[in-house]
Amino acid sequence: RILREALCLDDFEDLARRRLPRPIFGYVAGAAERNSSLRDNASAFAEYGFVPRTLVDVSRRSQSITLFGTRYARPFGIAPMGINALSAYRGDIVLAAGAAEADMPSIMSGSSLIPLEDVARHAPGTWFQAYLPGDAARIDPLIDRVAQAGYRTLVLTVDIPVMANRENNLRTGFSTPLRPSLRLAWDGVSHPRWLCGTFLRTLARHGMPHFENSFATRGAPILSARVMRDFTARDHLNWEHVARIRRRWQEHLVLKGILHPADAARARELGVDGVIVSNHGGRQLDGAVSPLRVLPAIVEAAGGLAVMMDGGVRRGTDVLKALALGARCVFVGRPFNYAMAVAGAAGVRHAVRLLGDEVDRGMAMLGVNTLDELDAGFLAPVGAGRR
Ligand code: FNR
Repeated sequence: RILREALCLDDFEDLARRRLPRPIFGYVAGAAERNSSLRDNASAFAEYGFVPRTLVDVSRRSQSITLFGTRYARPFGIAPMGINALSAYRGDIVLAAGAAEADMPSIMSGSSLIPLEDVARHAPGTWFQAYLPGDAARIDPLIDRVAQAGYRTLVLTVDIPVMANRENNLRTGFSTPLRPSLRLAWDGVSHPRWLCGTFLRTLARHGMPHFENSFATRGAPILSARVMRDFTARDHLNWEHVARIRRRWQEHLVLKGILHPADAARARELGVDGVIVSNHGGRQLDGAVSPLRVLPAIVEAAGGLAVMMDGGVRRGTDVLKALALGARCVFVGRPFNYAMAVAGAAGVRHAVRLLGDEVDRGMAMLGVNTLDELDAGFLAPVGAGRR
């Protein structure tokens, strides 16, 4: 019933705010420092207006795309998010299975609390996102494990050489390591649906959640100091590691967190298959440019690479603008986390339907039957974007 209140993706945010304890909601919603990149991710879309074509027979609309040889029914997918299983019971499986059911891509996060093998079993086409240290001896075993589990697409996130300053986490009580406090206990008890449906259910069936898929954190309790040390051990990772990973990983390799055209060109030279233009949803370098603003330059530099993007996509029209600027596919983060927090699998299904319907209507009003027809000719810069 609660889903009747969600008429668009943005509506899930308020619903999730009510459903989740404050530190968890704050962790999902938050960004870094002044939240400038977070805001810019949303506002960049408003700087393009559509220039539609009319009197086109649009009765044969299809929003399917082909990516790495796989046909997907939607041009949007679910971005990797850490500790999804704190938002909903077995959250990574809820999202991956929801995406598989809807025939769309989804990426499971390396900082997840569910073993990657379990997700692969429930949703075989899922992509895996890894955080890797600059240390071959630790990289190789994780890559081999991902391959062994049957993943065909490895996404290497490259925009976390160090953890960002997420002071907003501290303000909402999401400290690392997590310190038990009266306030924390009260937050849990005052959200009984979350407490029983997510946390206690997890405890009862699987024990205390653990990081399961990071290179060295396997088995570390959530938010322990050990995990955090590990998270900050990525500042050695460099292009030579990417070349090495390229040699070891035989399937599709994607770099996530690219914003500079020269880095996209470098990725192409090393034989990488795709890039996700991203500022990590504004959660890393605050002030990092919105992906949409650099997308055209990256598409140009990327040659044959599959260019994808994420950050601030909330409407079908946002999806269509990114595609018109050359993205092959976009990813959506927070709204899917909120949707599953609100109503589990039904929430994810509802979110997919809302966004899919918006894309479909947008295509009709733009005068296209397939997404290949979109190009920059359908857009004009408006407002600040005209400068
Ligand atoms: C993320 N993001 C992320 N990215 C990644 O590569 N690995 C990860 O583990 C995480 N974890 C994570 C947790 C949460 C709660 C959020 C909101 C985001 C970034 C994510 O993949 C994506 O880049 C952004 O979320 C996209 O922006 P929107 O759609 O949330 O605006």
